[in-house]
Amino acid sequence: MIEIRAEMQADFKDIHEITESAFKDRPYADGDEHELIEKLRSVQALTLSLVAVDSGQLVGQITFSPATLSSGSQPWFALGPVSVLPSRQGEGVGSKLINEGLRQIQELGALGCILTGDPDYYSRFGFDFSPQNVPENEPVEYFMLKVLKGQSPDGKFSFHGAFYGEDA
Ligand SMILES: CC(C)(COP(=O)(O)OP(=O)(O)OC[C@H]1O[C@@H](n2cnc3c(N)ncnc32)[C@H](O)[C@@H]1OP(=O)(O)O)[C@@H](O)C(=O)NCCC(=O)NCCS
Repeated sequence: MIEIRAEMQADFKDIHEITESAFKDRPYADGDEHELIEKLRSVQALTLSLVAVDSGQLVGQITFSPATLSSGSQPWFALGPVSVLPSRQGEGVGSKLINEGLRQIQELGALGCILTGDPDYYSRFGFDFSPQNVPENEPVEYFMLKVLKGQSPDGKFSFHGAFYGEDA
């Protein structure tokens, strides 16, 4: 049985390793996804880090961080990175992490969630293209969002500064 719970300090090393191995050799990966999670954690911008645990073994992790909309409407969150141990992919772990994460940010009052990712995958969770809201320098064909409350957003999004290598 897969349990989804919030990360604990004892998970940090496993999260690093799972993220690194999941993104290794993926053509779209920057190769620093594991460092991004640590960066977000160090600047208190890791809104949510959930892990998937199976019989005591960590098999997946998902990250949510604050996103900014130019109109000022908030709170919005960004999903990602999300990783599943390569040997455990395709079993529904990623879907469980995404659905539970979306539920938890909704409880936090989220207006919605943004991400850059594979449209074929994220469309199953209700994410849609939103060309009018794409952050500067992000690919329009991979930027997607899901409204959780209220109207469609007005303005351009930015991911947290840690995504752009900033310190805060
Ligand atoms: C993406 C990822 C988190 C999905 O986790 P998972 O546990 O394998 O996903 P699930 O088992 O819930 O869903 C698997 C389904 O999604 C599909 N899928 C997985 N990745 C996909 C992708 N990039 N594009 C389209 N479909 C994808 C699988 O084919 C499978 O389809 P099926 O249900 O019809 O059989 C995992 O594959 C992973 O860690 N990938 C490497 C890291 C990565 O790319 N992260 C996301 C980018 S932010």
